[in-house]
Amino acid sequence: MKAIVGERYGAPERLRLEDVPEPALKDGWVLLKVRAASLNAMDWHTVRGTPYLARGSMGLTKPSSAVPGGDLAGVVEAVGAGVTRFSPGDRVFGTKRGSLAEYACAPEIQLAHMPASASFEQAATLPIAGVTALQALRDRGQVTGGTRVLVNGAGGGVGTFTVQLAAAMGAEVTAVCGTHNVELVRSLGAREVIDYSREDFNERDTRYEVIIDNVSTRRLSSLRRVLEPEGILVVIGGAPGNWVGPMVPVAKAALANIFTKQSLGFMMAKVTPEDLDVLARHLADGTVVPVIDRVVTLADAPAALSYLEQGHARGKVVVNI
Ligand SMILES: NC(=O)c1ccc[n+]([C@@H]2O[C@H](COP(=O)([O-])OP(=O)(O)OC[C@H]3O[C@@H](n4cnc5c(N)ncnc54)[C@H](OP(=O)(O)O)[C@@H]3O)[C@@H](O)[C@H]2O)c1
Repeated sequence: MKAIVGERYGAPERLRLEDVPEPALKDGWVLLKVRAASLNAMDWHTVRGTPYLARGSMGLTKPSSAVPGGDLAGVVEAVGAGVTRFSPGDRVFGTKRGSLAEYACAPEIQLAHMPASASFEQAATLPIAGVTALQALRDRGQVTGGTRVLVNGAGGGVGTFTVQLAAAMGAEVTAVCGTHNVELVRSLGAREVIDYSREDFNERDTRYEVIIDNVSTRRLSSLRRVLEPEGILVVIGGAPGNWVGPMVPVAKAALANIFTKQSLGFMMAKVTPEDLDVLARHLADGTVVPVIDRVVTLADAPAALSYLEQGHARGKVVVNI
């Protein structure tokens, strides 16, 4: 099969489209013909092997999976012994390391059925970014109708889902994004939009009950100043850097959390079949409409990863396979 391959850590431009063996089917696993994959920041991090301290889980000297990618949508080709939820021909979506390939083999528990009305490109956008947004709002933020939510970094993959899901929960959403995304995030359900290149949200006289910080562009003290005294800050994205930089906002929030009634902390999302089903229902009923920046071919996936790494993608970048 064709796949994007990077045997060693390095820039995404060094990845190559190559012929590799198809993955073997295992008990409890599902073999898929991948039809679309979506890219996440995690993918360029695992290609580069950064931050270096994360190499313990990515592979110490080289990537543990030569084929990058995580999110996918496709058609079931075959199922291993013990698989109960899927049959050949089913249209499914979920996550599996190595999704930038024509075939992938994933544990049953990492997949869910696609809504009949959805395209493979749409379904492939959902797993990591959609589940992260859902768990940040529902589980950490305990967002319900009327909750005042600030979303910092509203224009990207996680951000565009966060705005839509928060609006679907009835929250009053204020979104922070760049000029080129102002109209987009308003159309996704944000009541207020702050263009960070023109306005500082610290200068507004508003406090939020929940802040979802996807980008860690602001100091913890700035975020806390606009958070209610018993409000909840959910840190999703770390700061830039190859060494400890990404961990600094996370560590500061964890430390400050000990001394305040505000709830301050990092959240690591976990993709579950139940939450994939929740997102599938949102996609089916139109309360979530994935924002797709661009759709590229498998051969163009390395360039698309470089584009995503620049940090200003508009919603999701999708690879058609
Ligand atoms: N904790 C977890 O479980 C988890 C899960 C998924 C992702 N993440 C992390 O979350 C972060 C965001 O992921 P993503 O998929 O949304 O990334 P993405 O698609 O690359 O989006 C990043 C967004 O950041 C925005 N941005 C850049 N500078 C900004 C600023 N100064 N103020 C506000 N927004 C700014 C950009 O929008 P503009 O163009 O409008 O500036 C861009 O769209 C990444 O660091 C990723 O690693 C964490």
